[in-house]
Amino acid sequence: MSTARLAPGLDPAVWPRTATLDDDGVLLLGGLRADVLAREVGTPAYVLDEADVRARMREWRRAFAGGDVYYAGKAFLCTEVARWVAEEGLSLDVCTGGELAVAERAGFPPERLLFHGNNKSTAELVRALDYGVGRIVVDSFGEIDRLTAIGRPAKVFVRVTPGVEAHTHEFVATGQEDQKFGFSLASGAAAEAVARVLGVGHLELVGLHAHIGSQIFDTAGFRLAAQRMVGLLAEVRDRHGVELAELDLGGGLGIAYTSEDAPLPVTEVAERLQRHVAKECAEVGLAAPRLAVEPGRALVGPSTVTLYEVGTVKDLPGLRTYVSVDGGMSDNIRTALYDAHYTARLASRGSDTPAHVVTLVGKHCESGDVVVRDVPLPGDVAPGDLVAVPASGAYHRSMASNYNHVPRPPVVAVLDGTWRTLVRRETEDDLLALDVV
Ligand code: LLP
Repeated sequence: MSTARLAPGLDPAVWPRTATLDDDGVLLLGGLRADVLAREVGTPAYVLDEADVRARMREWRRAFAGGDVYYAGKAFLCTEVARWVAEEGLSLDVCTGGELAVAERAGFPPERLLFHGNNKSTAELVRALDYGVGRIVVDSFGEIDRLTAIGRPAKVFVRVTPGVEAHTHEFVATGQEDQKFGFSLASGAAAEAVARVLGVGHLELVGLHAHIGSQIFDTAGFRLAAQRMVGLLAEVRDRHGVELAELDLGGGLGIAYTSEDAPLPVTEVAERLQRHVAKECAEVGLAAPRLAVEPGRALVGPSTVTLYEVGTVKDLPGLRTYVSVDGGMSDNIRTALYDAHYTARLASRGSDTPAHVVTLVGKHCESGDVVVRDVPLPGDVAPGDLVAVPASGAYHRSMASNYNHVPRPPVVAVLDGTWRTLVRRETEDDLLALDVV
């Protein structure tokens, strides 16, 4: 039996922490063989390494001890994961009534919830207040008016656009001036929002918020944002005599989708952010505020592998080989939407056959339906093989669609040699249930 492998091993930066290869080159996740998982769960499937997620949650909580870590539920939220967030002592960022519904079903401690969104409806705000959410991040003058009219006590952050250009895809950059989120710092809108909130008796302004973007690999942008936000804290003190107690610097820390990406360890990020904020505060004579962060991708992204089964293999001589799998842009829109780069490997066996670069595509009726552009797979890849795509935990299931009436895959958690379903597979009955005949 051959022990030769296509790749020497699994890059620990890209694969979940319990991922290993056995002597036959079969991928194991949480101690379970990929072929066994595929047989029992079916494909495609999101396989989430529970030990990996919980370990990352603990690392973030430890690194930001004395502050707050709000898990950004938009990355991936289900009732069970909301419970893990609560159990691991983190807080939770929700940004719609639907995400709030998950938190409610999980019995998430309301005071540890933060409610985001650039267009919260009055109904959503009332629902959040009924549940007792800990913080509402106000995002527009209209929202301040709505909260004023609702007339109920609320703790709020003002979301500030600090004018920082994060070096990331334009669709996920949020710190620059021209965009729909927050109040501009440079135009004076942020200072005006602070003044208006302070003027509403039942609103308690507890802090300021900024989120500069996503999939960011250095801390220079966070540093600039921290500097500008502390400047605004000082301005608020000088103008209103109020020292705001909390500063939320948002999420956005990048993860490794391929071995080319080099994310910073959370301990390093936390140490730098805390140091920058403390230094800026000392310069303007402010006590350092309680620091909050909102990681989404960094907590769940690396935990999950999508398992697919190979169907058609089409070799176009002189052009490329298309390897089609049983999912695609409906379970991973990121390649098509952001030109995101992924890696993949054969999961059900090893192979001695030399690798060739192929394009891994889905089963949708669209030529942009690419899962991984240019990935080396063994030349003997064939129908029935399993292929695994790592770093599938953030913004995959949460952005999945039913394009072409393809049911969305389940999310199963693996832990210590067992698996359980967190989100079941969608069925054709689920899809047809909404059609009114
Ligand atoms: N806080 C706020 C206010 C946010 O808007 C976001 C992400 C986060 C925190 C969490 O960011 P993270 O740590 O996950 O980067 N669909 C895109 C990402 C959109 C991010 C939206 N906001 C993607 O797949 O890359």
